[in-house]
Amino acid sequence: MKHDTRYVNVKNAPLDFDISSAVVYPNFVTEEEGKSLINESAKRLKRRRFEDGHWDSVITGYREVELSTPNEHELNQDTHKDVPQFAKAIHKTRKQLADNHFNKSNNNHIQWLPCHAIDLSAKGVLKAHVDSVKFSGEIVAGISLLSDAVMRLRLSSDEWDSDDTKDDTNSDSSMNSSNTNEEYVDLYLPQNSLYVLTGMSRYSYTHELLPTGSTFELSRSGGEGDDDDTEIEVIRGRRLSIIFRDAKKGKDNSS
Ligand code: OGA
Ligand code: MN
Repeated sequence: MKHDTRYVNVKNAPLDFDISSAVVYPNFVTEEEGKSLINESAKRLKRRRFEDGHWDSVITGYREVELSTPNEHELNQDTHKDVPQFAKAIHKTRKQLADNHFNKSNNNHIQWLPCHAIDLSAKGVLKAHVDSVKFSGEIVAGISLLSDAVMRLRLSSDEWDSDDTKDDTNSDSSMNSSNTNEEYVDLYLPQNSLYVLTGMSRYSYTHELLPTGSTFELSRSGGEGDDDDTEIEVIRGRRLSIIFRDAKKGKDNSS
């Protein structure tokens, strides 16, 4: 499975941006695998209500649920045929992440947190944030379902982070995150794709979803010549994402 560099636009990125820290695999799951993840999530989300805030309203208009799966040990038994398809898709994803986005030396010791399914309504918003460094480890990855989207990464700094509070709406300070920070990286996330954030993209950059109607510049040849670029208008409707995180190392688990 190959990732596609055309899906990560670094034209406006800082010079020292590490392109290996943000990758997109288009069509990572098959239609069928995607459907199994959608169905399983729908089942578990049924009794959840849409919420309007959490983490200082980083996210609004969403529902969220854990997608626990049978563990590796059970999976390796002969009961293989009983493993539901959504769980196979999750294990396939974890294997891809373990084999390609962790140091070879410790990729046998990854402690995965349960996946989260996030159902973001068409009007829902996911604002710039860095995932908890207290609970979550070195990787943040997600499968996009039901809708295409554009994710933007921007350099995280204390100034910009604290900007996210409500009282700066009427401050006329020129230090406004979205206006002064002109450096960013965009990820095009079509349905059934997998994105992976590690290293600087996970720890030093915020991630957010752009509003519907945003454009993404897809370079057709994967290289030279802006003439070959196609602008894609990305309509984001209701989105379902399956989020993968590993546990933060230390404390309880040795090494
Ligand atoms: C999150 C997040 C992105 C997505 O829940 O922390 O960044 O793809 N989600 O849903
Ligand atoms: Mn996040």
